[in-house]
Amino acid sequence: MNLATDTVTLGQSRAGDSCVMVIFGATGDLTRRKLLPALYNLAKAKLLSRKFALVGAAVDPLSGDAFREHALEAIKTYATDEAGEPDQDLLAWFAKRIYYAQGDFRDPEFYWRLKDLCCTEVSGKNAIDDNYFYYLATAPAFFGEIVRQLGQAGLAKEEGGHWRRVIIEKPFGHDLESARALNTDIKEVLKERQIYRIDHYLGKETVQNIMVFRFANSIFEPIWNRRYIDHVQITAAETVGVERRGGYYENAGAMRDMVPNHLFQLLSLTTMEPPISFAADAVRDEQTKVLRAVQIPTPEDVLSKTARGQYDEGVVQGEPVCGYRAEPDVAPDSKTETFVAMRVMIDNWRWADVPFYLRTGKRMASRTTEIVIQFRRAPLVLFRNTAIEQLQTNRLVLHIQPNEGISLQFGAKVPGPVMQLGSVRMDFNYQDYFGSTPNTGYERLLLDCMTGDATLFQRADMVEAGWSLIQPVLDVWKALPPRAFPNYAAGSWGPKEADELLERDGRHWVNGG
Ligand code: BG6
Repeated sequence: MNLATDTVTLGQSRAGDSCVMVIFGATGDLTRRKLLPALYNLAKAKLLSRKFALVGAAVDPLSGDAFREHALEAIKTYATDEAGEPDQDLLAWFAKRIYYAQGDFRDPEFYWRLKDLCCTEVSGKNAIDDNYFYYLATAPAFFGEIVRQLGQAGLAKEEGGHWRRVIIEKPFGHDLESARALNTDIKEVLKERQIYRIDHYLGKETVQNIMVFRFANSIFEPIWNRRYIDHVQITAAETVGVERRGGYYENAGAMRDMVPNHLFQLLSLTTMEPPISFAADAVRDEQTKVLRAVQIPTPEDVLSKTARGQYDEGVVQGEPVCGYRAEPDVAPDSKTETFVAMRVMIDNWRWADVPFYLRTGKRMASRTTEIVIQFRRAPLVLFRNTAIEQLQTNRLVLHIQPNEGISLQFGAKVPGPVMQLGSVRMDFNYQDYFGSTPNTGYERLLLDCMTGDATLFQRADMVEAGWSLIQPVLDVWKALPPRAFPNYAAGSWGPKEADELLERDGRHWVNGG
């Protein structure tokens, strides 16, 4: 069913430029599950240039044929084709334009071989324009090194109107200092406009819709402020544990893994001022501005306005699961947090005194990412025999995943001779209106990079603003290791400290709004 009859194309919608994409870390999970299927989906939607080729770069000793087979298999398994079966002609088309470069990313000689492969074999054979984008899907320790080596081998230099772009995966740095150092290093080789720091949350339809919802409709913006909004909750709850990523997660923890990137993206899109245009820098200026207006937590704030947790064994969706400390590659006495909640305040005219409660955790009761906008109570009790606390408040929920949509809760009269109020909900589900299109979440981001639109990528100052806000928390947490970990059962909504955080303000979490 397609009920949305009036659709308008916003901005440009054109196929990506002719280019060669080089994926560093091409044998890893991200390439297999997301990048390759996303390229297929783009080609299927006719948004990938016919003059395109892919070079997989990795350390694994594979032949070109073996990598090609691996890549096609990944597409067959993960491309979300509606018909179920992948398009054989398209697979054959891909098979002719997939190459492999094996080598050690620290070895300068590898980059000269890569250059040779790209210039002679890859672009020559496929008549591709001299545009390159490099996707760094490697361990973060390689980011700076790869960019430096690309520079030394002349692979990052833009000449004759052709572009060179680099997509850098997260985590971008381990703390404020290392993020700044990485920015400094890569900027020695690249101009800011060549750098695309990815945050895959921005590839999600519903995240992009926050801007459309706020700025393409006239009715919400007038009430989008401290006068009408009581508080906002941003939740990214996952039911999965750390899966096979214990090694990475032990050093990261929930705060670094989710907050300065994904949660702050949601926060900034929800709270920023209207940009003067949808040009990349206009949007990112506003996002950065609002992040800079967030109060930097003092050590006292860290103690009273943040909560951390680690999951114990429990039951998730009917299945018994182990605690974090029993996961592979995790220390049996690990102090790493798998849950974070924090209250942030924004010092500007729009948001002064409105608390924003952020939380994220692994092994929680349900997989839910959503933004709850809780409006203030009506100012006057018209229904005299109803206690004021029983009067309904309005709540708008932006459902990011898994159910994508928006719902609005308001009070309505229960039919009958007695005056009774009930709470009702108006729901908009994406799927009802637009159906579902094959999407891994990376299509839009890859396309934007191929057309040179950096709006949905993080700029250096945004990344640093995000780290500056959590650095004081990381510092205090490091100085005061948690005493009572594990402190929440897998399959619950997190530790009691997170509930207490809101209870102190006379509020409670909305679990699955
Ligand atoms: C990643 C984190 O960036 O985002 C993971 O490293 C997390 O730990 C994931 O599971 C969540 O993304 P999504 O799209 O599944 O909500």
